[in-house]
Amino acid sequence: MRKPLGAGNWKMNKTIAEARALAAGIARGLADLQEAAEKVDIVLGPPYLSLSAVAEAAAGAPLGVAGQDCSAEAGGAFTGEVSAPMLKDAGATHVIVGHSERRELLSEGDTQVAAKAAAASAGGLVPVVCIGEPITTREAGATLDRIGFQLEHSVFSVFKNPPGELVIAYEPVWAIGTGKTATPAQAQEVHAYIRKRLGENFGVDWAGNSRILYGGSMKPGNAAELLAQPDIDGGLIGGASLVEADFLEIVRIAAGG
Ligand code: 13P
Repeated sequence: MRKPLGAGNWKMNKTIAEARALAAGIARGLADLQEAAEKVDIVLGPPYLSLSAVAEAAAGAPLGVAGQDCSAEAGGAFTGEVSAPMLKDAGATHVIVGHSERRELLSEGDTQVAAKAAAASAGGLVPVVCIGEPITTREAGATLDRIGFQLEHSVFSVFKNPPGELVIAYEPVWAIGTGKTATPAQAQEVHAYIRKRLGENFGVDWAGNSRILYGGSMKPGNAAELLAQPDIDGGLIGGASLVEADFLEIVRIAAGG
């Protein structure tokens, strides 16, 4: 049985003080939820500048911390970049790579995403690799082809052996920040396909133990039906993760209500 994972992607939001306050509030909320909190792994994804503050506020609580990206390099002359070892040093446990906003707005390609995932893993962080199709691909009936291609080139190209831990986040681009959510059936179809491909490449046991997250307008109102799907193991949550009560409510739902 896979333990659900609830990960917040705070994107480019929150000052350091605001991030510290939100993390502290979530930590307090989890203390109140106790039993539910033990049934879910929870990760907060603040901007780089707030990472240390969030890690401090999360210390003692069952909370991991995620960077929102990392360099494919471990260090050196890469102005503006942040490496996986630096994130780990600041208290990160996970790192999101290949988010569609970075793929679209910063032209990140699968090869770069794969290199980042490998660097994250080598640096001792759990990569959360995001994949997902634009609406035109879905309307053309080519969603699974697109997902397969992204898995091949963002993951399987660099991990020839099963990685220690790696999380896939399925985030249909058309559902991100739009209020539109994939139906549970649409999401389940893609998640099942992802698990099948993970099994073919890394073994059925590895795939059966690995978490595949859904992302795209997950909210307290739709989390239960999404998380009830057999291959949806949690959420990568944007907007709702910025609202303490909403994020905690999704954690409670993920724990089984
Ligand atoms: P929203 O939950 O705001 O749609 O964002 C999802 C997302 O992009 C998480 O990475």
